[in-house]
Amino acid sequence: MTVFEKAYAKINLFLDVTGRREDGFHDILSVMHSVSLADTVSIDAEYSDELTISLNSDSPELPSDKNNLVYRAAEKYLTHFGINANVSIHLEKHIPIGAGLGGGSSDAAATLRALNRIFRKADTEQLIELASELGSDVPFCVVGGIAVCRGRGEKIGRAENATPRVFVVAIGEERISTPKAFAELDKKYNDFKFNSYAPRGDLHKPYNIFESVTNICEITKIKETMIKNGAEYSLMSGSGPSVFGEFKNVCDADDACINLHNNGFSAFVCHSVYLEGDI
Ligand code: C5P
Repeated sequence: MTVFEKAYAKINLFLDVTGRREDGFHDILSVMHSVSLADTVSIDAEYSDELTISLNSDSPELPSDKNNLVYRAAEKYLTHFGINANVSIHLEKHIPIGAGLGGGSSDAAATLRALNRIFRKADTEQLIELASELGSDVPFCVVGGIAVCRGRGEKIGRAENATPRVFVVAIGEERISTPKAFAELDKKYNDFKFNSYAPRGDLHKPYNIFESVTNICEITKIKETMIKNGAEYSLMSGSGPSVFGEFKNVCDADDACINLHNNGFSAFVCHSVYLEGDI
């Protein structure tokens, strides 16, 4: 039996960091949103005497062992429930890697969902629990849609608004390391000490604290191109360096995408995704 799961990219419509934690992570406040740019995870599995996991992908730069979050997600699910099976996973990549679009997290979440469609061992809460042990954005990616996320990102509260929205997501050549971006924030905001740092209140306004420590020409150029082509606003996603813009209609978004391509950027027209994963 082959099971296919879409792994949707996530964008951060709002992203603030509210404190540094004892465990070295940071508390965040973020509105995360799934968009239609997606990878596909397909899984074949059959019960066996012992557990074997094989992973391949169409992206040669990705590891196919435990260094890949998809492999770790499969291993976590299968060992947690004591399942012995031959599991073969294929990953088809479309989401840019290391972009702040949650591609790896979403692939891992799709792996958990796909395995759960096959083996039916977990309820949503259990899947989220397993997801939180894999990475900070994986729990959101398990449920998808739009949500207000707190804690490391694993505390998920539903957001009400489910209107169809149009986005362009774009990225240049440069990449940013997430731990380094957090370290830059620590420097700039004095380790978020003494509770002196109050989170910005309005979750409905586009905001990303990582923009205050990111200085990449490509980002400025992408934003300018989006705004020139009718974006209502344009914002970096996650710790960067991908950028998204929201558009009133698909025509403007298409034009922006063409202009971004002409300037040498990767760009994708996306719409909002609200359907929850088939858990
Ligand atoms: O959880 P994830 O693997 O996505 O985190 C990658 C890195 O980003 C962590 O090792 C940590 O340095 C940083 N991080 C953080 N606070 C978060 C999420 C990530 O400091 N809430």
